[in-house]
Amino acid sequence: MSKLILSVLIAAMFASSALAADFFPRFKGVAPVKNAKHESECGSCHFAYQPGLLPSRSWRKLMEPKELEDHFGDNAEMEGGERLAILDFLVKHAAETSWYKRATKINRSVPKSQTPLRITETRYIKRKHEEVPRKMIQDNPRVRSLSYCNNCHMRAADGVYDDDTVRIPGFPDW
Ligand code: HEC
Ligand code: HEC
Repeated sequence: MSKLILSVLIAAMFASSALAADFFPRFKGVAPVKNAKHESECGSCHFAYQPGLLPSRSWRKLMEPKELEDHFGDNAEMEGGERLAILDFLVKHAAETSWYKRATKINRSVPKSQTPLRITETRYIKRKHEEVPRKMIQDNPRVRSLSYCNNCHMRAADGVYDDDTVRIPGFPDW
């Protein structure tokens, strides 16, 4: 086998592995992938979080029927077929499979032994908001909690979370 063919083969193998995405993120932000079921079932109480915001083991746990029954104090139960279709979508595009920079960073910040149920509890997202005071988040009726990303990140629905697209309601000088 020529050296060229060999290196093309190796590159192809490497490109298909999640490992490659982890080392060579290609795009900024989080993949803006969409799925109609996910949008309608998971986008009514908060915006439909991009799958790249959590590793697949977190989505698996969140989507267990028992977990959905008591989803952060709310009932987010759904019919079995819908649940599996959404789970499949979330797992396919989860943080560890992504070529997007933010997703990769989130994934790397979560120890393999942990399965966070919140994006806001991952080390990367927590650290990024350390300097945002409580009065701008929990005590701000137009934000309510850090979970409502799109109340401050104007382009959250497109998977864009850059600090220059942030606007905190009621705090124009941030
Ligand atoms: C009935 C309303 C409702 C539905 C439907 C719903 N959620 Fe939630 N979700 C909530 C509430 C309430 C919270 C907690 C918000 C807070 O802490 O301020 C939450 C939080 C979350 C979080 C954690 C956000 C964080 O703080 O990092 C994730 C992830 C999540 N939901 C995913 C989903 C997915 C996936 C679906 C669809 C299967 C879904 N949600 C459907 C109400 C809902
Ligand atoms: C109260 C408004 C607010 C909410 C809600 C919020 N953020 Fe942020 N976010 C900020 C601010 C302000 C910064 C910039 C912090 C800084 O400049 O130090 C930031 C920074 C970030 C960054 C880093 C940006 C960069 O360029 O380094 C990411 C990624 C991010 N947020 C994601 C999220 C996600 C995901 C959610 C929802 C789970 C969320 N944020 C919810 C206000 C918010």
